[in-house]
Amino acid sequence: MAERVRVAVLLSGRGSNMLALAEHKRRDPERNYDIVLVASNVPAARGLVLAKRLGIKSWAKSHEGMDRAAFDALLDEQLQAHGVELVALAGYMRLLSAGFVTKWEGRILNIHPSLLPLYKGLDTHRRALIAGDSHAGCSVHLVTPDLDSGPVIAQTEVKILLRDDADSLAARVLEEEHRLYPIALDEYCRALREAEAAAPPLGRSEGP
Ligand code: GRF
Repeated sequence: MAERVRVAVLLSGRGSNMLALAEHKRRDPERNYDIVLVASNVPAARGLVLAKRLGIKSWAKSHEGMDRAAFDALLDEQLQAHGVELVALAGYMRLLSAGFVTKWEGRILNIHPSLLPLYKGLDTHRRALIAGDSHAGCSVHLVTPDLDSGPVIAQTEVKILLRDDADSLAARVLEEEHRLYPIALDEYCRALREAEAAAPPLGRSEGP
């Protein structure tokens, strides 16, 4: 049985999605991932406190005053040091450099609070309300150099109610994020291992 995929969660704030990922794994250790690191560009992020309580290793450094590529190089160093294979963004409020994204191609997931490709970026719920949409929702997608534009791998719709404001809608969408992200991450990790088994890295099957 292949080892679980070693995942780092990157966050900048409250960390409720990281908690959902960790809880999902705690409830069922058979899940295909292990969270081996929580990393943040905001040393005061509440998510780091949660990680500590959960007994997950963490790393934090403020990006302020740092060049994007230089910061991402430090981050990459941490990921390598912890043997990370997959990065799960969970409220990581900083654009990753193109170099980092290219290096980790196919290995970075993000959760976004809209039905992508609608409403990339910030303020998604208010924009859905102003547009008069019947549904909002959340999407898990692969990260590419363009913001919130990578292939969507999972999505959940949430009905917009007449009485909704941006806060009430955000709260209901967040509940769905907590359901969707762990399932999508688990499924993606299972698929990764299956792909590796089907096509072992060059050299492994080559012998004298
Ligand atoms: C979530 O709404 C997520 O979709 C977005 O940022 C928010 C993070 O919330 N990318 P939390 O830190 O996981 O509570």
